[in-house]
Amino acid sequence: MRRMGFMREAFRSGNRYVVRLALVAALGGFLFGYDTGVISGALLFIGKDLNASEFDEQAFVGALLIGAVIGAMLAGWAADALSRRRTKIIAGAIYVLGALGSALAQTSPELIVARFVLGLAVGTASFVAPMYISELAPKNIRGGVTGFNQLMIVSGILAAYVVNWALKDAPNNWRWMLGLGALPGLGLAIGMYLLPYSPRWLMGKGRREEAHEVLCTVREDPGEVDEELDEIEKESREEGGLREAIAPNIRPLLVIGVVLAVAQQLIGVNTVIYYAPTILKFTGLGSGSAITQALSVGITNFLFTVLAIMLLDKIGRRPPLIAGTIGCIVALVALGIFFSSSSLQHDASWIALVCLIVYIASFAVGLGPVFWVMIAEIFPLPVRSAAMSASTVGNWAANFLVSTFFLSLVDAITREGTFWLYAGFGVLALIFFVARVPETKNRSLEEIGRELGATETDSPHATPA
Ligand code: BGC
Repeated sequence: MRRMGFMREAFRSGNRYVVRLALVAALGGFLFGYDTGVISGALLFIGKDLNASEFDEQAFVGALLIGAVIGAMLAGWAADALSRRRTKIIAGAIYVLGALGSALAQTSPELIVARFVLGLAVGTASFVAPMYISELAPKNIRGGVTGFNQLMIVSGILAAYVVNWALKDAPNNWRWMLGLGALPGLGLAIGMYLLPYSPRWLMGKGRREEAHEVLCTVREDPGEVDEELDEIEKESREEGGLREAIAPNIRPLLVIGVVLAVAQQLIGVNTVIYYAPTILKFTGLGSGSAITQALSVGITNFLFTVLAIMLLDKIGRRPPLIAGTIGCIVALVALGIFFSSSSLQHDASWIALVCLIVYIASFAVGLGPVFWVMIAEIFPLPVRSAAMSASTVGNWAANFLVSTFFLSLVDAITREGTFWLYAGFGVLALIFFVARVPETKNRSLEEIGRELGATETDSPHATPA
């Protein structure tokens, strides 16, 4: 039977509610992108206004990433104890507080604290959003709608670039740049208040009636709801927590989650996202053209994420992951060759931009969405929160290290050395993905959990070991 395209499936009347719900839940992803992206432009003006030292400026960036590590840790507990829904309402409220606090800060330490508070919400929302969406979505569109979260992350980054550009000459501009994040935060808190609990969380709390009601609103065929609830019930009887997440049968999955998380960062994506203008300036461009060209990186990221969403339920998660990682490696090697040749830099500076575009397009179809989609799918329900939280903590910690030390790394091992190092991490990751990462397309979360979590040897494409 020919499979219908994601768009057609997603916009069939029965699935429209799931799509709306995913868009609201993914506002957390939008803020993740906005708050990480906006600081690069805001920094140009904060420095003078608050009399900030270089250390302060690094702290404005780093405090959010450290907050995100801690937020991701706490949210593992909150998603189970308080529910995915309430955790996201709280994250929305913290986004509002953090944005207003940043906009009103009068001193550097105040701004550092406000950015740390924002980070708590970023870390929380970064995995509770895909978790909540994947637990409500029907399996035939789950990859695409869970991928909305990545689409919202990249939209947030793009929105930040546009806001920075639009406000560059406005009075008090950095306060507006940072403060505007309060609006989507409010939208997230109110939106989540109006949305239902995850049926899988309800079943974990023994609230079958309510879970039944919610599932009926998000499934086209009510006949299948009882069968799905029975499956969830079987799984939710088991104990779950960090101890269970590192038990021998789950450990191989945790390794997959953490390797995907760390690989996503060690391949250098945020040096491209946060430093694209700097990298382009290395080629001799002036600041103005570097910022304009960097915008094309943001737009490419957005367009290829849309493509990924259309592909994930059609061709699966593994093919884009593997092809995308190969694309990133090729682009990184080429970027290294470019920076090692002074004649290329002199005669063909356009090569750097082409490499950055190929790199971000490859990331956008592969590791970008696939990491967040897969960690919401591979873990059995009882350990899902703890294991997703551990993977997300790995992601933010690696993000902190890579983005904080990028410029020092360039000083220590040269530009070409830095890009080749990222390519080397890419090759290691690729070998691991080919050998270990399973396909999860079009299977229920319970089927995936049973198959992958039950034994150490059974897996459709690979053997998690
Ligand atoms: C990553 C972020 C990154 C973004 C770029 C996300 O999947 O987790 O660290 O900034 O993609 O598109």
